[in-house]
This record gives sequence, structure tokens and C-alpha cells, in this order.
Amino acid sequence: VDEDGTRVFRLTAQEGSTSFRDGVDTETWGFNGDFLGPTLRARRGEQVAVEVTNTLGESTSVHWHGMHLPPEMDGGPHQEVAAGGTWRPTWLIDQPAATLWYHPHPHGRTEKHVYLGMSGMFILDDDEADAAGLPSEYGVDDIPVIVQDKSFTEDGQLTMASRVPSGVMGETIMVNGTIGAVQEVSTELVRLRVLNGSTLRTYNFGFDDDRTFQLVGTDGGLLAAPHTTTRIQLSPGERAEIVVAMEAGSETMLRSYPQQLGVINDAQGYGAFDTLDILRLVAADDLAPSGAVPDVLPDYGRLDEADVATTRTFVMKNLRMNGQFMDMNRIDEVVTVDTTEVWVVRNEDPMPHNFHIHDVQFEVLSVDGAPPPPELSGRKDTIYTEPGREYRLIMRFEHYANPEMPYMYHCHLLRHEDFGLMGQFVVV
Ligand code: C2O
Ligand code: CU
Repeated sequence: VDEDGTRVFRLTAQEGSTSFRDGVDTETWGFNGDFLGPTLRARRGEQVAVEVTNTLGESTSVHWHGMHLPPEMDGGPHQEVAAGGTWRPTWLIDQPAATLWYHPHPHGRTEKHVYLGMSGMFILDDDEADAAGLPSEYGVDDIPVIVQDKSFTEDGQLTMASRVPSGVMGETIMVNGTIGAVQEVSTELVRLRVLNGSTLRTYNFGFDDDRTFQLVGTDGGLLAAPHTTTRIQLSPGERAEIVVAMEAGSETMLRSYPQQLGVINDAQGYGAFDTLDILRLVAADDLAPSGAVPDVLPDYGRLDEADVATTRTFVMKNLRMNGQFMDMNRIDEVVTVDTTEVWVVRNEDPMPHNFHIHDVQFEVLSVDGAPPPPELSGRKDTIYTEPGREYRLIMRFEHYANPEMPYMYHCHLLRHEDFGLMGQFVVV
């Protein structure tokens, strides 16, 4: 924290080398290290600044995924940091506690930068979430779980070669950069902040003994009440906070089970039928008591459809957004500041897409006209879009207006995003 009270972080984008397996050095990229980046953490009401230094041989950017902030601080393709350059965005944290993340967003090269290892979590706190009584000791009973799949060449290097044109379906799973990850648990309850940090693969998380767990949060913060379930599906960029109970001396495996991707071509190629081990949880012989998960979580208020000023429709088809590829010099939508909108989103391709909006968290009003399921009942910034279904999203564009500098919306399957399944909106 500097003298005027700003919480300052430093991120250096760098090339490195990681030994994922003994005796093999893999060329990787990371922030402040060889692979992935540090967890950043800040509290609602704090001013933050990040000093980004790019020591890579090419330009990159750092986007704060899920963050409400001015467009010129957003870290999208209009804020690239040149090779050797620096960038210092600063903004006020003004949104509920949530599990966000950061990753590069250079025009046309996001898949490569994220795949080589550049991303990290950005956790936000607030008083209401603190008071909720969820497990919250970072690294002890509150664990970041960044899930990624990678594909290796025979000589142990990361490869982006792929069988499906949409990107890499890696055969190797990593959690926080570790293959075959194991988490030791010392408390009765453990909270996992799960981020799908993969470039293409969707996961359908559950435990090998089919134990229930409680879903307490999604992309933009806590749910109004915990949802008890055995599965949570996350497409690339989505997050879930889950609380799982452990018994002393026991273990369980967090897995990914076959997913509901909808009717797509080559479901096998997209990994829809895969079952994968993700993270082994091993409980100590003596566990510290945790208390119970509360029945009710902080209520951050809901948006009201009666306030909707504008409804827009977004169709993803032939890898285009409303018929067009991304153009850095074209503004696709103009939004009025401090208004509420409904965005109707449809995937009309026979392949997986999802939909991510910068600056805002949205609420799902309906899926094909029906109320959203519990896992889509909270604040979201990214949603899986099954082919042929219609998703009605409500959101409010608050405070930050700049007619010169757009925010993005796009598919978060990163090869699709790089290919141009993205558009730009300004808030004026
Ligand atoms: Cu996570 Cu536009 O990105
Ligand atoms: Cu897509």
C-alpha cells in the first residue's frame, strides 16, 4: 500500500522454463515466475494499481476478467503493453467479493499467451462475505484451483497443435500448474475456488464417490443461498466456489465427468465424454472443526426487468458475432451509462461457444424461456451457450463512460476469440 492508500501490485510478464515432470524442462511463460502468476487480492472500496512490465519478446496485455472498471484500465486489445514496455492501470474496487482472474488479451494471440502459462486469480473481499462464515483461510481451507489441460510434444514442450479446429484438447490435466495435484486438508470443510483456466475444454466437476458439495459462489460472487449438488460444469473462463466436507483420514478425488455441451458436431473431439482426475483431496487424521455453511448468503440485490432500457441480440454463427468478425476499428454497440439492458444470446453453430462480457456481471433471466437453474442464479460474466438455445441476460452498465475506448464481448474459447468471434461496445 503506497502513501496515498493505493494497493499496488507488480506483475512482470516473463519467459521461463518449468519442470512439470522430472528431468524435462518445458518452455513456459508466466507472471513473476516461470508459469502462472501470483494470486492478487483486494477489498471492496480499495484503490488498486498494477505495475505491469512486459519482458516478453512480443506485446501482451493483462485483462482483469470479471472486474468492473474504466475501459482504459481493462487490459483488452486496446491496452497492449509493448515488448519491454510498462503499463500502470489503477481503479477502485467497487463490486461484491468474488473470485476473478487475470490473463493476457492481445489481439489475435490470447490463446497462445494464456496457454503458455500467463494467468492468475484476483480475489475480491468485502465485509458481507467476511461475515458469512465460509471457510476463508487462504491455502488452508480456502484453496485456489486453476484447472488447465495441456498437450505435450514428445520432447516435453507445450504444443498448440490440435485435432479439433477450435483449439487444444490437452491430455494432461494441471491444477495450479501441477500434474497429479494433491491437496492436504486439515479442516472439516474446505472451500475450493475453481477456475476453468483452459483455452477450450469444459469440465463437469464432481467427486469420485459422488458426495454432495455446496455451490456457494459463481463468477461474480456468492449465491443468495448455497446449492447442494454433485456436479458443477464450467466452460473456459467460468468460476465456481464450492464447499466440500471431509472426514478425518479419508480422501476423495475431484474429477471431471462427461459434460452437457448440447448438440455439437464431434462431441468426442471436444472431450464431451471424457472422465478426468483433477485434484486429490487427502484429509488429515485430525481435522479442525469448521462450523456449518450458512443457509443464507449475503444478498447483493437483483436487477429488475422493469428497468430495462434496451434489448440487444447477439447471434454467434459461422464463428462470427452478428455476422461480423472482430474489427479493432469498429464499435459494434453503444450503451448508455447507468442504464439496465437485456442481452439475448444465441449460439447457432454446431459447436461449443460461450459468451463473456467485460465490465459487468450479469444475471440470467431465462434459458429458452425457463427460469435459470440454481448454478446460473447468481452473478455471472461468462456463460456456456448450448447450440440452439436462447439465453436472456440482464446487466447494468454503471459509472464508467468513455466514447473513445471500447470494452469487449466474445466467446471465451480462446481460439474462437482470436479468430474474431468478438465485438466491441462503448459506454457513453
Ligand atoms: Cu477473460 Cu475478454 O476475457
Ligand atoms: Cu466459441
